[in-house]
Amino acid sequence: MSRPRADYSDFKERVRAASDIVEVVGQYIKLRRVGSNFQGLCPFHHERHPSFNVSPERQNYYCFSCHRGGDVFSFVMEQEGLGFREAVIHLAKRAGVPVEAAFSGGGEKSRHDLFYRINESSAEFYHKQLTRSEPGRRALDYLRQRGIGDESVRNFQLGYAREAWRQLHEHLGGSDFPPEKAAELGLVKRKASGPGYYDTFRNRILFPVRSVAGRVLGFGARVLDDSLPKYINSADSPVYTKKGILYGLDRAWREIRRAKLALLVEGYFDVISLHQAGIPLAVAVCGTAFTAEQARLLKRYTEHVCVITDGDDAGQRAAVRASGILLAEGLRPSVTTMPPGEDPDSLVRQEGREAFERRVREAPGYMGFMRELVRGRGDRPGEKERAVRRILEDLAAMPAGDLHLEALLEELGNTFGVELAVLRRALGQARRAPGRAAAARDRAATVPAEDAEPAESEARDRQEKLLLRILLAAGPGRDLLVELLEPEHFDDPLRERICRTLLALGRPPTPRELGELFPDPAAQAAVNELTFLASPEAVAPDLDWVRAGALRLKLRHLIGRNRDFQGRVQAMELAGDELPAELLDEWRHVGQGIREVREQLERTLSKQKGT
Ligand code: UTP
Ligand code: MN
Repeated sequence: MSRPRADYSDFKERVRAASDIVEVVGQYIKLRRVGSNFQGLCPFHHERHPSFNVSPERQNYYCFSCHRGGDVFSFVMEQEGLGFREAVIHLAKRAGVPVEAAFSGGGEKSRHDLFYRINESSAEFYHKQLTRSEPGRRALDYLRQRGIGDESVRNFQLGYAREAWRQLHEHLGGSDFPPEKAAELGLVKRKASGPGYYDTFRNRILFPVRSVAGRVLGFGARVLDDSLPKYINSADSPVYTKKGILYGLDRAWREIRRAKLALLVEGYFDVISLHQAGIPLAVAVCGTAFTAEQARLLKRYTEHVCVITDGDDAGQRAAVRASGILLAEGLRPSVTTMPPGEDPDSLVRQEGREAFERRVREAPGYMGFMRELVRGRGDRPGEKERAVRRILEDLAAMPAGDLHLEALLEELGNTFGVELAVLRRALGQARRAPGRAAAARDRAATVPAEDAEPAESEARDRQEKLLLRILLAAGPGRDLLVELLEPEHFDDPLRERICRTLLALGRPPTPRELGELFPDPAAQAAVNELTFLASPEAVAPDLDWVRAGALRLKLRHLIGRNRDFQGRVQAMELAGDELPAELLDEWRHVGQGIREVREQLERTLSKQKGT
């Protein structure tokens, strides 16, 4: 029996061992040894002075200018625009590690493999039911009448679940798949009373949802008439996370990379009709709102994403939201909405490929779209400001030092006729605003917390990093920080998360653990940078330095909160609202805290001078 997954991770580690990062990076850029590291011009952006560092010891890299960092796999992923597995295979070929080794031979049996096989067997079963059974006839007619051709039915492996309670359950049982596993995947459900299971999907058309690599992760399922709910979707399962998956990407990614363009649409039928019409660039979310994770998934293949939604209010809101997330993740969104009553599925069937492609080509960028929206509302007072503020929030969520930021600010200024200096100031404010985009919109971002003088914010930035760096290694500095630091003292949500995770661990992490604790690229890059900073002994010669650093951080946090209270109270006073007593209490409490921390800080600093 084949045992792919365990073999795969074994294979991956063999490829890693056979791929020296200095050698691999050295194929792309010139590296020079500096101390124990190597340095060169960063391949990910244009620069004249080298800020790209490679550590042969840790086998990782980091650019101090664009903040990209990672291991040999992520380097190849970025450089070649590959997915993870593809990057592993690319490196395997380069190093002469036989690729078959990944998929055969010993190792422990994979848990996920069973789930995939159950899903895939179910997809095949449903597909046969649709194409080769008498009850499937009606569903096939429905699809045909909606213009879905046989080829699309095959390509997307569409299926049909009969009006029956135990069809799939019996099929899976006949193939020796354990029902409790099928239940974990949401394919069958345990009866509430008595033993046994029943099928989840009944009398519905099935859309298998696949990973980029083509494995079936879950299903969407539509009724054949007007009954409700129109769609049901597999719940998240051990192999399915809706917020990280895009329907159709398995069929679209190559074309997206080639065309340097993806079309983000709202529905299963939209994806299928666009592909069928010869526009194989369409992908869709599966019954959830678009997420930052999905934006990052698209970013592997393209920078340009055209967001296509319905023209009604809800559609416009969805378009604004998705574009904001794309922008914040460093992509270039454009937006087009469909005429009243149409969706991409109906429109492309009506007007054909070329007319539809023209719409996409002529779609304005995000800011242009926002400008049109405001104009469409008759340029009512306040609308323009609101739109600009909204865009600034998106920009505030962009990684610090993002190269496009300046150009985007300029575009914003030109589009809405606002001066650059005003926008810069407002951007600083948007960055300080608490709980902004991050929480509300699920995005990871590295945001410098203050638009003070560059020198000051740089010093502060460095100080924050050093505090986190100290948390990485055992020692008295770390012990002190465990006492003094609260994660929320970091304004930057990413740093807050890193701090929280490190404190929760209760001890310094091993280098190996770092990868597991911070699996997402944004956090990994940030932690990576930390490991490149000098050792705690070098940066924090005494504990008072550490104490002062932690107190400063807390003080700034409290000052920020104080400012929020000021703003809120002012706004309420302007609106003539009564000020609730709890609010004032809380505000007073913050003021008290500021005084206390200030005193502690002064004491620490004078002690430092005294010694
Ligand atoms: P739509 O209602 O626009 O449906 O929902 P549609 O895709 O155009 O389908 P048709 O043309 O009416 O057959 C868009 C998407 O929202 C999700 C599905 O992913 C759907 O494709 N959705 C919609 C649900 O998850 N549940 C629902 O009840 C409705
Ligand atoms: Mn539709």
